[in-house]
Amino acid sequence: PETGCLSIIVLGASGDLAKKKTFPALFNLYCQGFLPPDEVHIFGYARTKISDDDLRNRVCGYLVNDRSASPSEDVSKFLQLIQYVSGSYDGADGFQLLDKEITKHEISKSSQEGSSRRLFYLALPPSVYPSVCRMIRKYCMNKSDLGGWTRIVVEKPFGKDLDSAEQLSSQIGELFDEPQIYRIDHYLGKELVQNLLVLRFANRFFLPLWNRDNIDNVQIVFREDFGTEGRGGYFDEYGIIRDIIQNHLLQVLCLVAMEKPVSLKPEHIRDEKVKVLQSVLPIKDEEVVLGQYEGYRDDPTVPNHSNTPTFATVILRIHNERWEGVPFILKAGKALNSRKAEIRVQFKDVPGDIFKCQKQGRNEFVIRLQPSEAMYMKLTVKQPGLEMSTVQSELDLSYRQRYQGVTIPEAYERLILDTIRGDQQHFVRRDELKAAWEIFTPLLHRIDHGEMKPIPYRTGSRGPAEADELSAKAGYVQTHGY
Ligand code: BG6
Repeated sequence: PETGCLSIIVLGASGDLAKKKTFPALFNLYCQGFLPPDEVHIFGYARTKISDDDLRNRVCGYLVNDRSASPSEDVSKFLQLIQYVSGSYDGADGFQLLDKEITKHEISKSSQEGSSRRLFYLALPPSVYPSVCRMIRKYCMNKSDLGGWTRIVVEKPFGKDLDSAEQLSSQIGELFDEPQIYRIDHYLGKELVQNLLVLRFANRFFLPLWNRDNIDNVQIVFREDFGTEGRGGYFDEYGIIRDIIQNHLLQVLCLVAMEKPVSLKPEHIRDEKVKVLQSVLPIKDEEVVLGQYEGYRDDPTVPNHSNTPTFATVILRIHNERWEGVPFILKAGKALNSRKAEIRVQFKDVPGDIFKCQKQGRNEFVIRLQPSEAMYMKLTVKQPGLEMSTVQSELDLSYRQRYQGVTIPEAYERLILDTIRGDQQHFVRRDELKAAWEIFTPLLHRIDHGEMKPIPYRTGSRGPAEADELSAKAGYVQTHGY
């Protein structure tokens, strides 16, 4: 591993993302020894004029760690690594000052042999990405003779449609090369999402079955049991398709559907993901159901006549040899009856069924990403007892039981470590982003122009009944019990 000075600069340090995700992830990495204090310094940067201690106090409340033996001692040591610099997002002064502070720290650590590394984490709204990137490029690049690097981490939303995303990509692309840009989709940092490649390509069970001959349909579902609480302003501009489906669920779809990569090299994996995205057919209006929960417009930051969907079911069809005819049902919603993210791969009925058991349900392979990570296979077995009757049961791998005592890392923790190590496998490449926007832009424009309307649904429900009807029409058979 590389050694030498590492400066992590969190821009937008006083914002929500930084407090809730970025700093806690850095803290967890620190507690596990990935951020050695003799090499690492953390800078918070934002417009607010506050002191180092103010920032430390703000961050402190969000630091929870279940791994370390003496949490409070770790917290105070970690907080000592954080320094605050205030400045604007488009003015030279702030960034010159930031560079001066980073350089000071690099000089103070210069007894260490090695290169200097600068990681800029943009926990900011995308509207300021271009100016911030320009300032970093102009004033804050790594200058060490011993080598090293400058990398930037950006978060979605990357644009609002194909054109705006491409414009943003070009603006950033003029300043940084692709290997310097880390576009986070935090779903790629989740344990069971990272497990998909292993499951699919390291198990003989799945290899021959993973295709249109055996699989009837695939559902990728995201549910939240709370509304847009406090984020109504942001959410209303984007809606559920831009917030969840175009990125998180589509990334999962890529990993479920892609062909085997040549190797595990990030570029090989990302090449295969792009091919899947490019094979998706245009979305048909009749394969979309939109919803909006009742009460959404009561949020004072949401316009009274908002047409923004808080729920959507969209069927994607992949035009290739493996998947022709298999619907991928993507479903996401806020203010529903439960909080869950899962992948359901439903197999076709057994031909020539002699047990007449088909009504009990089909074979289904479920990967639950959260909560309580698990994988289970629904299968038909003989009902124990004297009669020859059948029943649906499960082969169940529940992580909590199987991996007792193992802490599953937070998505952000893993992804930030990847950025330090220079591994781009779990980050979205520019052409991948473009292909993802190509799929959804026509639909999004129709919604934006009011040509498609969300159906109201009750808070705490399953969403509009029309969505279940659409899934059933696409071939999904609801099974009960598990
Ligand atoms: C974010 C969305 O990207 O993901 C939020 O902007 C959503 O609206 C969140 O709540 C869900 O993430 P997780 O990891 O809790 O499923």
